[in-house]
Amino acid sequence: MSLRQRIATSPMARVAAFPGRARMVARHDVGVLRNSARWLVKSREHTNFTYDLQPLNREHLAWWVANAAGTPVSVVRDYIDEADHDADLIEHVLAATRVSDRRGLADDEVRLGKRLGWYALVRAMRPSHVVETGTDKGLGSVVLAAALLRNGSGRLTTVDVNSASGYLITGRYAAVTDRVVGDSLAVLAELVAPVDLFLHDSLHTREHEYAEFEAVEERLARGAVVLSDNSHVTDALPSWAEKTGRSFTYWHEWPASHWYPGSGIGLAQFVAPE
Ligand SMILES: C[S@@+](CC[C@H](N)C(=O)[O-])C[C@H]1O[C@@H](n2cnc3c(N)ncnc32)[C@H](O)[C@@H]1O
Repeated sequence: MSLRQRIATSPMARVAAFPGRARMVARHDVGVLRNSARWLVKSREHTNFTYDLQPLNREHLAWWVANAAGTPVSVVRDYIDEADHDADLIEHVLAATRVSDRRGLADDEVRLGKRLGWYALVRAMRPSHVVETGTDKGLGSVVLAAALLRNGSGRLTTVDVNSASGYLITGRYAAVTDRVVGDSLAVLAELVAPVDLFLHDSLHTREHEYAEFEAVEERLARGAVVLSDNSHVTDALPSWAEKTGRSFTYWHEWPASHWYPGSGIGLAQFVAPE
């Protein structure tokens, strides 16, 4: 038996492995600390953080959307690039941010992260009616609206309890968007037009999230897709999907150069028989 094997089988193994293990953890933690310090100094965001995606994570996103929508991955990659390089959208967000009364808490860079996935799903699935709960500044709303504008059809309903929300939703993006101020559960109960794509991004408690899926259930069109921005935290969407006979899949974000570990997109839909 070699010395290395003898140590590996002895109680000393833990001690011998400690320096290498400590180096690995330190390398990881220093990276997080560096990103945290840079963010504290450079960013002004205090909630609903924005960031770019790591390149491999974008590629995973393209495949995930392609599988969900039944669209060739090369086409989905083009959709993702289209959103990322949409000069009109970027200039619109920057200009609306500059004149907003919340500009002190927003960065002057447009980073779409997971919203690239929302955009690609709308481009690939061409929904007539998209519903987003939780508008906040309206970044997700203008991304969804930009996809509908490129599709040449479809409307977005976005709901928020906060009447000061949605300052980004102006101009051509407002033309395809119905902003509603109110509690999402009350608003969903009153929806008339069938919903083709639903996105939960409002109050992130399991109870509220699940209640939204139940409230929208009767209003979903055939083949509708249901998304959650909270599937990295709760099992509300997979539970509802199982109860209603739908499939559930999930893609997780890997933010580039950010301390935040990322959220993701949960997706429920009926699977068409082979
Ligand atoms: C995470 S933010 C939405 C982010 C947005 N979708 C985006 O892409 O940037 C959550 C929003 O949900 C809103 N909200 C909280 N409780 C709500 C409720 N019961 N009904 C509707 N909106 C609610 C908050 O006011 C907040 O603006």
